Amino acid sequence: MTQDELKAMVGQAALDHVVVGEIVGVGTGSTVNKFIDELALMKDRIAGAVSSSEASTARLKALGIPVFDCNDVGEIAVYIDGADEIDPRGHMIKGGGAALTREKIVAAQARRFVCIADESKLVDVLGRFPLPVEVIPMAAQRITRQFAAFNGEAILRMRGGAPLVTDNGQHILDVRGLMISDPLAFESEVSQWPGVVTVGVFAHQRAHVCLLGMATGVRTLD
Ligand code: 5RP
Repeated sequence: MTQDELKAMVGQAALDHVVVGEIVGVGTGSTVNKFIDELALMKDRIAGAVSSSEASTARLKALGIPVFDCNDVGEIAVYIDGADEIDPRGHMIKGGGAALTREKIVAAQARRFVCIADESKLVDVLGRFPLPVEVIPMAAQRITRQFAAFNGEAILRMRGGAPLVTDNGQHILDVRGLMISDPLAFESEVSQWPGVVTVGVFAHQRAHVCLLGMATGVRTLD
């Protein structure tokens, strides 16, 4: 099976975790796009969605799924999103699609986080994937030096010859060379650095369930 087919398989499997009659939290990325396409098939049985990015919002609306502002809804039952890496305890690296801040906000509003990913995303220790960190632009150089003290090499993410600008108007640093053996402590520490908007370690907002797409079918980690 191709990676695309594995993503489609878990996107479909995630429908079993959608709570009928309620608002669904929707993440961002190519795996989530598969989920959104499946969700459209049951749009009459959900109250709508809250979304973690302008891209997902546009896709949801194009398929006729109402999208609500987080401030207009209370706690949501489930948030479904992909990951760049996930460890066996459900800790993740996220933000490859630059949507990490809104992803963490929606995840914090949900009772359950269901991660959908192909098997290449499962790792023992987080850090092989360059860690995305959304930063206030004027702090980027100082945060780069702070990561150097952790042996991390932070590179400003570019798009079309200019720094990428997130949905929140900020920049992204991608940090290579980290081995994140204590994701909870690491997330807590880096989140406090002045100018860090969001660090792409999701340990406080870990996945409660992971649907992992494998050649043999969907493996559930919980
Ligand atoms: C976006 C994310 C995505 O969930 C992550 O990058 C995985 O994306 P994909 O499903 O395309 O592999 O965190 O900010």
